[in-house]
Amino acid sequence: MLILGIETSCDETSLALVEAKDGGLWTRQNLVSSQINLHQKYGGVVPEVAARRHVEKIGPLITKLLKERHSSTSLRGVYPDKYRGRNDKFNKPDVIAVTVGPGLATALLVGVETARALSYLLKIPLIAVNHLEGHIYANFLDKIAPLPQKIFPVMALIISGGHTELILMKNHLNYRLLGQTRDDAAGECFDKVGKILGLPYPGGPEVAKLAKTGDATAVNFPRPLFDSPDFDFSFSGLKTAVLYHTQKNKTPSPDICASFQAAAIETIIAKTLRAARRFRAKTLLLGGGVAANAALRRQLKTALRRQSPETQCQIPAPRYCADNAAMIAAAGYFHALRKDFVPWQKIKINPNWELTQKFI
Ligand code: KG4
Ligand code: ZN
Repeated sequence: MLILGIETSCDETSLALVEAKDGGLWTRQNLVSSQINLHQKYGGVVPEVAARRHVEKIGPLITKLLKERHSSTSLRGVYPDKYRGRNDKFNKPDVIAVTVGPGLATALLVGVETARALSYLLKIPLIAVNHLEGHIYANFLDKIAPLPQKIFPVMALIISGGHTELILMKNHLNYRLLGQTRDDAAGECFDKVGKILGLPYPGGPEVAKLAKTGDATAVNFPRPLFDSPDFDFSFSGLKTAVLYHTQKNKTPSPDICASFQAAAIETIIAKTLRAARRFRAKTLLLGGGVAANAALRRQLKTALRRQSPETQCQIPAPRYCADNAAMIAAAGYFHALRKDFVPWQKIKINPNWELTQKFI
């Protein structure tokens, strides 16, 4: 099965072709056009500006995706020879999977209307994908045996610019929300700390870079909700603590970044491991932009080995942590197996779509 993925929920225009073959999901193409430079001068994503740029980019990206022969060189090292396409030529997709929410309404519209038109013209069935399940299913890309047979119950942690959620999955596409942030999302908090320190947008990767050379014990920032019995998160108090500290002290930025990052990571790891143990998770799946954070990846794996060695941990490659259409195609594949098709007349954006709600 060949799945065309479309993602325009925020500031990346992305199209992907993913092939389900021989028990794995293989990314044939994953084109991502980032708008970061466009939004940098505003210090954040401006919805109307984002939508207009999606409109400009999506047509040429479709042409590129459909015309371009899949470059074998770009696949070298990732795929064993036998998994490369025979002629590496474009085949008509069997399914179109598009992000319909959550996200910015005007931005989502561009992807959804494009998917609708392609579905109608090419007579290809459509699937509505929740952006957050895309982040979870990024873990299934480019693996021959995606995961061991008995992966459930799965504990999924989504940490992105818009969301911080702990989700229990007893089966594929079955989600129970255990906890979420009560205020800022983890990525949003990294971005705001970056802004406080005068770093370019988005602050997350910049803060992570500076933290590498800083002293994580320089400032003892608070760890909000660290000991609370629930599985909720809170990051705005931490952000405010960083703001007040920088107003009153002259601590070097790398030390602030390292201390802030340590506080954020420790809380995320503690809550996630507690949830994994409480629900006897066999597998922990991470997803979202913040999951690209190297210190978090390292510390989480160490903590799991020590505290919960029976739980298998999967974190997508950094290119699949950030927004991309390959992950949308991956989630679409599992929906296609269930024949969750939506007629082209009925597909619509759902900017506040919660993972636990049905699409229609
Ligand atoms: O998943 P994503 O690409 O978009 C959303 O769905 O929100 O996540 C973007 C977020 C941004 O807040 C960005 O600063 C953060 O992920 N991020 C990071 C890192 N790379 C991206 N945060 C911390 N450390 C990183 N290395
Ligand atoms: Zn995202």
